[in-house]
Amino acid sequence: MIKKIAVLTSGGDSPGMNNAVRAVVKKAISKGMVPYLVYEGFKGLVNNNIVLADSKNVDQYITKGGTHIFSARLPEFSDDEVAIKGVNNLQSHGIEALIVVGGDGSYKGAKKLSGMGIKCIGLPGTIDNDISSSEFTIGFDTALNTVVDSIDKIRDTAESHARCSIVEIMGRHCPDLSIFAAIATGAEVLVTSDNPMQKEEVLKSVISARENGHRSIIVAVAEKVYPDIINTPLSELASYIQSNSGIETRATVLGHLQRGGKPTAMERILATRMAAYAIDLILDNKTGRVVGNKGLQLIDYEIDMSLDLPREKRKELIDLCNEINSK
Ligand code: F6P
Repeated sequence: MIKKIAVLTSGGDSPGMNNAVRAVVKKAISKGMVPYLVYEGFKGLVNNNIVLADSKNVDQYITKGGTHIFSARLPEFSDDEVAIKGVNNLQSHGIEALIVVGGDGSYKGAKKLSGMGIKCIGLPGTIDNDISSSEFTIGFDTALNTVVDSIDKIRDTAESHARCSIVEIMGRHCPDLSIFAAIATGAEVLVTSDNPMQKEEVLKSVISARENGHRSIIVAVAEKVYPDIINTPLSELASYIQSNSGIETRATVLGHLQRGGKPTAMERILATRMAAYAIDLILDNKTGRVVGNKGLQLIDYEIDMSLDLPREKRKELIDLCNEINSK
């Protein structure tokens, strides 16, 4: 049986990562294993920043956002010579298995380590909800609630002043936060990478919402659309709408506030269950796998298969938004 196991968090931090780490530590102890914490993700693995976990210490982070074992992005980990240092460090502690909490970049790191003999399980930790093997990722629910709360607040002031507010929402390769938030807030216009709109089309939609009696108009825009896909910076889009519609328009980039904050109850439950499931997989000698969910059901896939799954385009949700929000 595997005696020593480690956990790390990697990539963009997400609320719920702390709950996953706590559950790995607690469940490992309950199964007679010795848990270790790797600080600062793959960077810490390479730098041997690996310490014995303290079961009591992890409890205090149950309500906290971010990741108390820190995170880092280390693209160099794709290099075998870098990754082998991580393997050697784990082996120097007698650690045979590693649980990696992170996004798709982290899954690639876990895949690499699996190929080098470390028994790895990946947990989907990212606010972006861009891991197709899981219906929801650890961090998405909390970030979504933060975005909804922020847009509701922007709506208060936009309604008071009869303004249009353009709100940019995170999600580098996946617009789920924008789509789900648009449904929840009734954003009149939704622009994503799958449905990038030129400024003329946004203007038309804004004017039509106003004609339909909307005093305030929210344009929810997924990150990277302006100016990366459509060659118009967000501030220019706002000026264009204002000068061509006569509706005062402001632009807000929600930015990193979306990543922080205490995890919601659903987040804590998802993270705790996924972490415990990961320990069960390791005990069953199933490794090189990632954990996901379908509703309340937890599932697991081979890492490779998970990385190859196509992204859900959310047509039904986008159509719903377009059909009802500006009426
Ligand atoms: O992947 C999570 C995420 O927050 C994305 O939504 C965003 O594009 C990116 O990370 C920002 O990364 P950084 O914090 O490195 O600027």
